[in-house]
Order: sequence, then structure tokens, then C-alpha cells
Amino acid sequence: ALNQILLLIGAYLLGSVPTGLLLARGMGINIRECGSGNIGATNVYRTAGKKLGIMTLIGDCLKGLIPVLIAQALGLAPIWVAAIGLAAFLGHVYTIFLGFKGGKGVATALGVLLGTAPLAVLFGIVVFALVLYKWRYVSLASISAAACIPVFALATCVPRETAIMALLIAVIVILKHHENIARLRAGTESKFKA
Ligand code: G3P
Repeated sequence: ALNQILLLIGAYLLGSVPTGLLLARGMGINIRECGSGNIGATNVYRTAGKKLGIMTLIGDCLKGLIPVLIAQALGLAPIWVAAIGLAAFLGHVYTIFLGFKGGKGVATALGVLLGTAPLAVLFGIVVFALVLYKWRYVSLASISAAACIPVFALATCVPRETAIMALLIAVIVILKHHENIARLRAGTESKFKA
């Protein structure tokens, strides 16, 4: 199981790389002091512009996708693929490089799930897009998609381990949005501007 353990650690470390913080720093912006203070694509988009925001989305997504693709290419069992995906996700959310205070995990979850539950995540993207279009809050769209994806995973018959991973990811994504939830309730959450 040495390969599996090394992949778990590698996935966690890759997930830990704070793409958004590094890209924003390149422009002289301290992302944790601007906007929502989050290191994710939404806040980079908000404070450093569209281009860097999209680059952050892609970078954070690849951090989740690449480890699971490697695990699958090696023919690892679903439980290992799920554990490695979860490790990448946890790296982003509890990054070792920022005192375990990372992002909310949406883009990295997207990458992990594109590799492990593509149909479910496709439906999740539809939910995300509809909620964002109707209410203009990225956080609300993220929370809604996160809540639906475990159900979509079950409905699309992914392995049980994948469904459990999707559920754990969804719970953590929603918990990490507690400040957004408070702002949504108070009516002070910032709306997405294209
Ligand atoms: O990806 C996180 C998103 O759902 C909310 O980001 O910066 O508005 O807290 P933010």
C-alpha cells in the first residue's frame, strides 16, 4: 500500500497549494485582506479580476482532478480513489501552507468529482448555474450544488465509496460557508458581478 499512501500525501500537498493566493500575490494583492478574505476563485475574481479568477478556478480544479486521474490510471480500488480525492480536497480546505486555514473547497471538489462522479457533477453545475442566475450569489450557488451532489451521485450509481466521499465533501463545503450563510441571512452577502 506504499503507492497509495504516497498518493494520499501527494494529493494533500497538491491540494494545499493556494493557487488564488499566489496568483493574487503576483499582482500585489493580499487576497486574505480583500473582499471576503477567501483564497478561492470567487474572491480572486472579485478582487483581482476575471482572468486571475478563472485561472484560480482552473488551477484549484486541477488540484482535485489530477490526483484522482492518477489513482484511476493506476487501477486503484474505488475506496483509494475516493480517499485520494478527499485528501486533495482537504489539502485545499485545511492547507498545510497557511496554518490549516484554506478555502471553501468548491473548485477542488469540482475537480475531484469530475474525475469520480462526472454525471453527478454535471447536474451539480446545472444547479449552480440556475441558482447563480436567479439570485446572483456564488456562495448560495455553491451551497445548493453541494447539497444536491450526494443525491445525484447516488442517483447516477457511482460506487458507494465515491458517494460517501461526495457526502463528506458536501458537508465540509457547506460548513465552510458559515460566514456566507450569516451574510445571506443578514442580506449583506455580495452579489456576483460578471
Ligand atoms: O467558492 C467559494 C464561494 O462559494 C464563495 O466565495 O469569496 O464569496 O466567500 P466568497
